[in-house]
Amino acid sequence: MKHKLALIGCGGMARAHASRLEPLFGRLEVGATVDIDLPRAEAVSRLLPNHPPAFTDYRDAFPFCDCVLQVLPHHLHSKCTIDCLDAGKHVLAEKPLANTEKECLDMIAAAKRNHRILMVAYCMRFHPLLVEMKRLLDEKTYGRCFQLSIWTEQYTRGCSMGVPVSDEEFWAGKKALVGGGQLFSHGCHYIDLMLWMLGNPVSGSHMGSHYCTEWMEREGTSNVTVQFESGAMGYHFGTWGAKGTRLGYSFHAHCEEGMLEADIRAGRLYLHSKMSNHNPGANETENLKILLEAPSAKPTTAEMAHFLDCVDTGRIPFTNPEDSLNGLRVIWRLYEAEEQNRLADLHGLGISTARL
Ligand SMILES: NC(=O)c1ccc[n+]([C@@H]2O[C@H](COP(=O)([O-])OP(=O)(O)OC[C@H]3O[C@@H](n4cnc5c(N)ncnc54)[C@H](O)[C@@H]3O)[C@@H](O)[C@H]2O)c1
Repeated sequence: MKHKLALIGCGGMARAHASRLEPLFGRLEVGATVDIDLPRAEAVSRLLPNHPPAFTDYRDAFPFCDCVLQVLPHHLHSKCTIDCLDAGKHVLAEKPLANTEKECLDMIAAAKRNHRILMVAYCMRFHPLLVEMKRLLDEKTYGRCFQLSIWTEQYTRGCSMGVPVSDEEFWAGKKALVGGGQLFSHGCHYIDLMLWMLGNPVSGSHMGSHYCTEWMEREGTSNVTVQFESGAMGYHFGTWGAKGTRLGYSFHAHCEEGMLEADIRAGRLYLHSKMSNHNPGANETENLKILLEAPSAKPTTAEMAHFLDCVDTGRIPFTNPEDSLNGLRVIWRLYEAEEQNRLADLHGLGISTARL
């Protein structure tokens, strides 16, 4: 059976999704596009070969779909997703799951009572370079991992995924709509990845600031440090104020026998090794090995394929809402501890279905 997908919210990220659906047209077609701003819904419809009907109210799309891709501002995630699940639709919901613990739990309960798939669109979990990095860490191919560092350097002012916006229209700058700041909105990907790669966290700290990113009510630049049960450390630096970058999106995993580097922009997973003694000026390119090459594009096609697999088989999504909520709990505890000027206790986040 070919699935019919409604695309709800037709801004920047929805366009990115729509532009990468073609390889899946044997399995799905877009049955409807929806945006409160009708010209946006119509513009995304025109990107698609069948020009599906466009609506301003997502409930009008229900007769035209069995699945939904929900790509709305964060404060709207919970209500829309629950309405879709209650209408019997499977939902792939953009990250973060929602802005509060209660909203997230209500979404999980709605999926359960309707026996429908709810998957969170953490696309970086489907990136081939990171999937391979995770495999190498799990198998301890280069020994135990003791430090995972993640950099994401972006500039967001005046633009949402390629769509121009003023500071006033930029909902992601507003604490109440986005649910926090840069860490909650974008860093949630990387907290989720850290938990996936390093396991259960023990304690951590966050320091953020909106200095030089004043279009963000809360932090536009974020520094997170987390310690894990194994003893490994995780670090994430993310900014929305970068006017230049060398690292782009970069992941460094230091293991006992070498350092794995996923350079997302270059599309390469490297192994750096054989640095035998302390030598800060070392040129160790001769010891650099390319382990994998993969396209740098966001892997939303693989993500959507996995969603369809889960819908077809009833399997629990790899990026399930319970695990996603655990990542958000880390962020909420980090924010709370930051306000109280103390370390965050990250023990006992909840049950992880994927790790059971
Ligand atoms: N996975 C990723 O890498 C990634 C990247 C960027 C954004 N996102 C996520 O995608 C989601 C949307 O972000 P965006 O950057 O596309 O935002 P955006 O502002 O560009 O798009 C949101 C769209 O929703 C529409 N909208 C608002 N209220 C609506 C309603 N009640 N009914 C229907 N449409 C409504 C707006 O008109 C707008 O077109 C967010 O959850 C964001 O975090 C994910």
